[in-house]
Amino acid sequence: MEEIAGNDDASQRIVNCEVLVDNAPFSFEISGQFHWGDDEVLYKEKGNIISGRPWKNRGYTQLKLLNEMDSSSLRRSIKKVLLRIFKELRIHCDDRFTLEKYHHTIRTESLHQRVIGETSRLTGGDFGFDLPKLIRKISNELEAPLEIFNPLLNEEYIILRINRPHSLDMNPPHRDGYQDVWKDTLNIWIPIAGCTPQSSLPVIPGSHLWNEKEIYRTAVQGAMINNRRYHVPGIVKTRRGRLHMIRPCPRYGEALVFTPFLIHGAALNSQRDTTRFSLELRLFHGNALKKAGTFGLSSAKADVFQGLPD
Ligand SMILES: [Fe+2]
Repeated sequence: MEEIAGNDDASQRIVNCEVLVDNAPFSFEISGQFHWGDDEVLYKEKGNIISGRPWKNRGYTQLKLLNEMDSSSLRRSIKKVLLRIFKELRIHCDDRFTLEKYHHTIRTESLHQRVIGETSRLTGGDFGFDLPKLIRKISNELEAPLEIFNPLLNEEYIILRINRPHSLDMNPPHRDGYQDVWKDTLNIWIPIAGCTPQSSLPVIPGSHLWNEKEIYRTAVQGAMINNRRYHVPGIVKTRRGRLHMIRPCPRYGEALVFTPFLIHGAALNSQRDTTRFSLELRLFHGNALKKAGTFGLSSAKADVFQGLPD
């Protein structure tokens, strides 16, 4: 995995990451080795999945994907996935269990880490839901051949994100596109439960167009929050001023669709007593398959899967 050069401070240190989310200030510490990026824009418009879309300069859009019935069906399917995981991990829960009150059942950090160890690497087969139909709908809307199967990983990759109230269950601000395996993908973020303006995923509109020399960040797998190491690099500041994020907050049945070069993350759940669930798909662009054939599969996979928790 190539790492971006341009270090002007390679020592391990703790930096306070200050963000504005819908104008509300929020900060947390990220430890790692930080550097300013090279003079380049990683997002390439030519041949990009989103080029030709009216929202290409914003970097994201919201798509209506599911009617109420299908949205309820997806939610039920996800609850079943979770109950199966509980059973495998011998976690007891009673009939009153709801996704929103997940934190009442999973009361310790260590237990939560065991659960997300399972929910961060799901495949379509784990769901009793017609995901292929959902993906076809997204492909049709985007007029692009999109696949859940990522040839660089040689597998499907679906994450069920669980974000407990007032926790640091979140990635730092980042671009997925810093990792080669996500460069030719499209992010699909689907709200499942507890998604509100206090918990939804923040993004920085138009940030996929920012030059790397304006961004101060860690390397891949170089960011730690609360003693937990993250796959994605943590962005802590820019030469454009503070990281000003907004929460588009798609409704149930909709999805937030964005380029992997858009800066997103820092999804603090500030609800008092509600856990947030969301489903994250990274759809691979079928036209990039040829390129995949020349890419080092094993190194790409090793780069993503090293047992890290995010
Ligand atoms: Fe991400």
